[in-house]
Amino acid sequence: MKTGLETSILPAGRAAAEAAARTLAAGGLVAFPTETVYGLGADAANATAVAHIYSAKGRPAFNPLIAHVPDLAAARRIGRFDARALKLAEAFWPGPLTLVVPKTADCPVADLATAGLDTVAIRIPAHPVAEAILRAFGGAVVAPSANISGHVSPTLAAHVETDLAGRIDLIVDGGPVAVGVESTIVGCFNAPMLLRPGGLSRERIEAVLGMPLARPPVEAESDDSQPLAPGMLASHYAPRATVRLRAQDVAPDEALLAFGPDRLPGQEAAAVVMNLSPAADLDEAAANLFGYLRSLDAKAPKAIAVMTIPEEGLGEAINDRLRRAAVAR
Ligand code: TXA
Ligand code: MG
Repeated sequence: MKTGLETSILPAGRAAAEAAARTLAAGGLVAFPTETVYGLGADAANATAVAHIYSAKGRPAFNPLIAHVPDLAAARRIGRFDARALKLAEAFWPGPLTLVVPKTADCPVADLATAGLDTVAIRIPAHPVAEAILRAFGGAVVAPSANISGHVSPTLAAHVETDLAGRIDLIVDGGPVAVGVESTIVGCFNAPMLLRPGGLSRERIEAVLGMPLARPPVEAESDDSQPLAPGMLASHYAPRATVRLRAQDVAPDEALLAFGPDRLPGQEAAAVVMNLSPAADLDEAAANLFGYLRSLDAKAPKAIAVMTIPEEGLGEAINDRLRRAAVAR
């Protein structure tokens, strides 16, 4: 593992983008903001640099990474887009959507980064800092979320620093992210398939496709050794505290993750309360989710009780992350 590194932290800007590009070209690791969460980037073509991502994060080596590019021309150099994939790319890129497509014959992405699959996950992030870094670097950048594997994804540069200082070369601080949950992943197979709900709602994707998204086969979710989107491990977004979903009340030694204007019995006496969105706005709740989980967990409550969140729009992604956080470990 690369430990004992001196991790620089630079405010976003031209100098930071240039330092990031130099670091990536030299095989280093750079954390940078995207609209969804902070990513931990490496040169996609450099297998050694990619290996350092896995060791810095403590990530299982079978779990493939998303290649980030600045535009569709760059995306088409690494993946093959059929008519439906192209339609989605044109509708939603740049944005919080990752498309899994077949690799091109001369795809430069290291096999380690795709875990030996013949498909590659690609996205164009909608964030000026990410774009500046990708353009300054000039190649594809693979980037998982910039957290220790199994921890909650980072929505602030400070979260990255907590997890990865001393293990990576550079953190570019672009302030808080806007979306707050990872990108939605769609597999562009015979039937387009929702591999991971995320920052772009199923409804918006289905409206563009004019058809429903297929669901992954059930065994893909339950079998951690052969997952379709292998990052969908059952226990993945893991606070230290136990997470109790669909809470109808709160105990005094519990933290409450609230949603909407309603109050639960016991709320006044709860150890700590944070409301994802008092106005019940699911986009606002997604943006707050990971930061609030970290803050509540830091108070070391007996458990984090979570109010019911509707399964619509970004609620599908929020509930997916919360179910993973609640899996007993
Ligand atoms: O919003 C995001 O997507 C963030 C930012 C940094 O872009 N990235 C992110 O990466 O969430 P990560 O590594 O935490 O999740 C990548 C997901 C994993 O579930 C992985 O298994 C899946 O993408 N994936 C990557 N390549 C794949 C492939 N060829 N086929 C199926 N799933 C793939
Ligand atoms: Mg992650």
